[in-house]
Amino acid sequence: MKAITDREFIELVQFIKQNFGINLAHKRGLVLGRLYNYIEQNGFDSFSEYFHYIVNDRTGKAGSILLNKLTTNHTYFMREPQHFNFLEQVVLPAFAKGASKDLRIWSAGCSTGEEPYTLAMVIDSFFGVAKCQWDTKILATDISTAALERGQRGVYPNSQLNELPDPWRTKYLSKTDDEYSVINEKIRKEVIFRRFNLMNATFPFKKKFHLILCRNVMIYFDADTKRNLVNRFYDHMEPGGYLFIGHSEALSRHESNYVFVAPAIYRKE
Ligand SMILES: C[S@@+](CC[C@H](N)C(=O)[O-])C[C@H]1O[C@@H](n2cnc3c(N)ncnc32)[C@H](O)[C@@H]1O
Repeated sequence: MKAITDREFIELVQFIKQNFGINLAHKRGLVLGRLYNYIEQNGFDSFSEYFHYIVNDRTGKAGSILLNKLTTNHTYFMREPQHFNFLEQVVLPAFAKGASKDLRIWSAGCSTGEEPYTLAMVIDSFFGVAKCQWDTKILATDISTAALERGQRGVYPNSQLNELPDPWRTKYLSKTDDEYSVINEKIRKEVIFRRFNLMNATFPFKKKFHLILCRNVMIYFDADTKRNLVNRFYDHMEPGGYLFIGHSEALSRHESNYVFVAPAIYRKE
């Protein structure tokens, strides 16, 4: 298998950026590290040959495998706990006053499910017995089919559950063996996993959201892609709704009409 040329690298990076928003221009090592063996094992002679196959694959499967290899799906339960505290102390009490008993939440870039499942646990624990009167389904989307499948399976190593409060580990998960636990049915049915590319010009959602989390996703996007996406979130949000982004990210005032509330928390007035 031939080494990648500069032209091949640029071509591949541009394709990924245009179609998925992810900017890998300065990640040559990562791209080669994650793709070289796969491409060689699948009998391609060069990156050009592989690229030609991707671009011409009408099923979308080849592109999907490429993304599964290149996306960084790192996530964990209770990541950035300030958001879950704010949800419990501010967002839920505010919306719990509403008469409709309907709360629409979107975990955009949900990866392997730890984020939407944490949300479902916080919500269940907040409402307690009254939860059954509420529709608080969480839409969990990602571009990586491999990540979504893991989320749907809902099986996690016990060693990765340490951040969850002790009572939740027994209330919301069941041990399958010494090594793994599975999310209980009650929490699983609160989360709807779907594949969705955040680069899509239109969002196919009928109703607006009260809360959108898009955390540690836009770090891979360039400024224009990010501004565009944030404004589409704004258009699809109920007035008074909240946007949570990662704590290493920020929105400047001229990027959108969102109002800064606290680090990584914004509101549509
Ligand atoms: C680092 S994970 C963040 C997971 C979680 N939100 C968190 O903060 O722990 C980033 C996720 O964004 C997803 N992603 C990247 N580009 C995307 C796009 N264009 N559309 C949808 N998801 C995308 C990746 O597949 C990955 O699962």
